[in-house]
Formats: sequence, C-alpha cells, structure tokens
Amino acid sequence: MRDLTPASITQAFADYARHAPSARGRELLVALAGHLHAFVRDSKVTQAEWNAAIDALTRATRFTDDKRNEYILFSDLLGVSSLVDMVNAAASGTPSSVLGPFFIEGAPDLPNGGDLWRGQEGEPLVVSGRVVDADGKPVPGTVLALWQTAGNALYAQQDPAQPPTNYHARLAVADDGTFAYSTVRPVSYKVPDDGPAGDMLRLLGRDAWRPAHLHMIVQAPGRRPLVTEFFPEDDPHLDGDAVFGVRGRLVLPFARATDRAALPAHLVARNALPLPVWTTRIDVTLPPA
Ligand code: BEZ
Ligand code: FE
Repeated sequence: MRDLTPASITQAFADYARHAPSARGRELLVALAGHLHAFVRDSKVTQAEWNAAIDALTRATRFTDDKRNEYILFSDLLGVSSLVDMVNAAASGTPSSVLGPFFIEGAPDLPNGGDLWRGQEGEPLVVSGRVVDADGKPVPGTVLALWQTAGNALYAQQDPAQPPTNYHARLAVADDGTFAYSTVRPVSYKVPDDGPAGDMLRLLGRDAWRPAHLHMIVQAPGRRPLVTEFFPEDDPHLDGDAVFGVRGRLVLPFARATDRAALPAHLVARNALPLPVWTTRIDVTLPPA
C-alpha cells in the first residue's frame, strides 16, 4: 500500500501482519498499534513531543540494572501493572494487587510466630491471621512469601546497610490455616523518582508516594499464587498511591495492644516486644481453585 494517510495507516498495519505466526501475537500488536495511532491522531502529537517520549525510553536504559527496572516503573506509574492485575483478577476471594519489583526468590524461612523485627529501627507490629479457601477451609501446605520495607522506608535491595534478605521471608501456615509473625510497622515510601519515570510524575503534577504496605504472595498447592498487599487504614497516601495498588478490602485497621495476653501465644518475641505494640489481622480467602 502506498500513499497511506492518517486514516488508512492503522488498517495497513493490520494487513501487513496477515502472515503473523501467532494469532494472539497479531491481535495484541495490531490493537496496540491501533491505540497508539489513535493517540497520535487525536492528540496531534508533535515531532518534538514524540522525540521527548523516545528520549525518556532511551534514558530509562541508564536507570535499569539488576536492582532497578525503569520500564517496570513506567508500567506501574502509568497504571498498566495495576490494570493487568485487575483484568486478570479472580471474581471472589481476597483481592490481588501489584507485585512491585522487590520480591525475591529464596527468602529465608521464618517459623510460624517468628520475628522479623529483631529490635530494628521503627515500631514493632504483630500480624496474625488465617488463610482459607472459598469454602472456609484451610489448604494444607499453604506458604506465605512476605516482604516489606525496613523502618527507614527502604527495601533491603535499596539499602547496603541492611542484610540482603532483611524483611523478606517465607512462612508456612499452620494446618488450621493460622499464622502470626512480628515485624516492623510499614511506613509509606516514595518509589524511585530520580529517573525518566519520575519526570513523568512531575509532568503530571504528582508525587511518588506509596501508602505503607505489607506485601504477601499466598502460595497454596494446586492454586494460582495470590499476589497481594495490605495497607494500614490510617495512611495519608491511600487515595493517591503512585502505582494504583490500593483495593478497599486490602485496607486494614491497625490497633495498639497494651496487654501481652492479647498477642498470639506462639509468638517468639511475645515477651520481648515493647508495649503498647501495633497489631493487625490479615484474613485471606483464596479464590476458587
Ligand atoms: C512496591 O510496592 O514495592 C513497588 C511497586 C511499584 C513500584 C515500586 C515499588
Ligand atoms: Fe512495596
């Protein structure tokens, strides 16, 4: 096809892909190009504006290494990571949320009732809860992957002063589905905003705050892992999350316990935690298998 016009180029793109080896690959790429073409047409994007977008993607390579990925950050800050999560979410059960870039494979095992805080900076928090299936029954063999920032608002990967797996753990829930652990109360933090994804936030007049959260992947045998996170209800950033991860049912009350008798009996640090101590309860319902 020659002499293409703004009105005909999108159809030409689809026609040129008629020999695509994968029907799904063709469907996705033709739709993506169609949306991009419509964006350029509708917004009358100038050459300088498109060059700036290409330049941002080029600069993103300089902010990407094995500890940080500026492309994932663009996806998160554009709401695309959250939207991919939402369109694939189960219709029932505890909502899923974004994974973020700080999950690590091979985190150390934490016994049920164990302590991640160990007297580090920040306010201790006791988390207790139960994981059940859609029928309200525990699923034997359920394991939780847990990760969060330290009291200084940094993940271990961002902070050479922390041991590499600080506040990362794997916890096997009890046969009745219950679990407990002590940790630091999570604090709100800014996602890295010193690169081109941060420039995009500034163009939007936004900031980079995420509300405080506890990340969790619930892995139950024979089921899709549930990637989620839980937020304290008093966080000031719940309604402006930089990465659009807050779901109402993931927002939890945090309360102060003044009495050790109120803490789970098997909590390893039960007698060592300073009172009053923050507590919260996380009850997870897995989606149907
Ligand atoms: C996080 O929650 O760890 C996160 C999510 C998206 C971007 C950066 C961090
Ligand atoms: Fe996080």
